[in-house]
Amino acid sequence: MEVRALGYVGVRSPNAEKWRTWGAEIMGFGMNDPTPATSALTQAAPVDGDAVYLRMDDRKWRLAVYPGKKDEIAFVGWELTDRLAFRDALRELDEKGVKYEVATELEALERGVQGMAWMRDPAGFRHEIFWSGYYLEDSFEPGRRPMKKGFRCGAEGIGHVVFMVSEFTQELDDFATGVLGMRLYAGGVSIPLTGGDGGRVRTEMYRGRRNLRSHNLVYMEKKGYHGLHHLFIEYDDLDDWGRTYDLVKHKSEFPLIMTMGRHQADTFLSFYAQTPSSFVCEIAWGSKQMDDEAFVQDRPLHSFVWGLDMVGPVIMDYLKVDETGQAADSFGSDLRPIAAE
Ligand SMILES: [Fe+2]
Repeated sequence: MEVRALGYVGVRSPNAEKWRTWGAEIMGFGMNDPTPATSALTQAAPVDGDAVYLRMDDRKWRLAVYPGKKDEIAFVGWELTDRLAFRDALRELDEKGVKYEVATELEALERGVQGMAWMRDPAGFRHEIFWSGYYLEDSFEPGRRPMKKGFRCGAEGIGHVVFMVSEFTQELDDFATGVLGMRLYAGGVSIPLTGGDGGRVRTEMYRGRRNLRSHNLVYMEKKGYHGLHHLFIEYDDLDDWGRTYDLVKHKSEFPLIMTMGRHQADTFLSFYAQTPSSFVCEIAWGSKQMDDEAFVQDRPLHSFVWGLDMVGPVIMDYLKVDETGQAADSFGSDLRPIAAE
């Protein structure tokens, strides 16, 4: 299959309610439900009444936060080109013997899409593939003002997710490239010459096909850790990004983790802020537009051009695998929560 973009993300959190204020007032995510009084749906779209659905553009939503006992990633939604690409993807999964489940129409509708199926990667993370996201034109209402342009999203998707895994395996690499059909962006083993974490750290970054973004999925290896490390989102306008920086520094009850700065490989500006749900948001502006044909993998010797000072916990405690060896993520969790049907 050819995954194109990161279409949506779902997390569970005891702090779900906090997202209604933090998500809107600090980040400017939209909170309005675009579905009432629309003509495409013959019935109300199912929603989990306790979940917080956050919008970044005219799609139904981009980030859903469901109430849960602990902070954990619930799913990531990968966008495929169209219905035929979805059909072909399922055939390919059959041929490869990859186990998956196809969502019902209502379950897909809760995600804001026409069709969806899901599977787990070898580390236990739930990956959903979908086709045809619902949108309502000119319906995005930013949760805060002023907002010049809002988020860079659309067909390029949200940005990227970074999963920490206790061990990066060949099976994970095969899943990203062979099952999801992503291409490599960057990565490899860092061999710290000074300091570091006492040894080699492996990070692998993958990119969807024909996606302008440099990368969409990252596995970062750290023994004893597992879960969603960060979600990258991007503003279209420098001032929207800068205002969020001010709000995180002066108004957010959750701390700044890394100061603003410029990355080396993809040269966007970003800073990192803790969300109400333990994971971190990488908040960016000005990322590269990639050309699939022209791209050649290379690697900068240094990660940052300037800035990006660590001022908070970069590796969060919630990612630690517990005493039983069970990862913080619920491996067995199913398609729910979807309350209303
Ligand atoms: Fe990132």
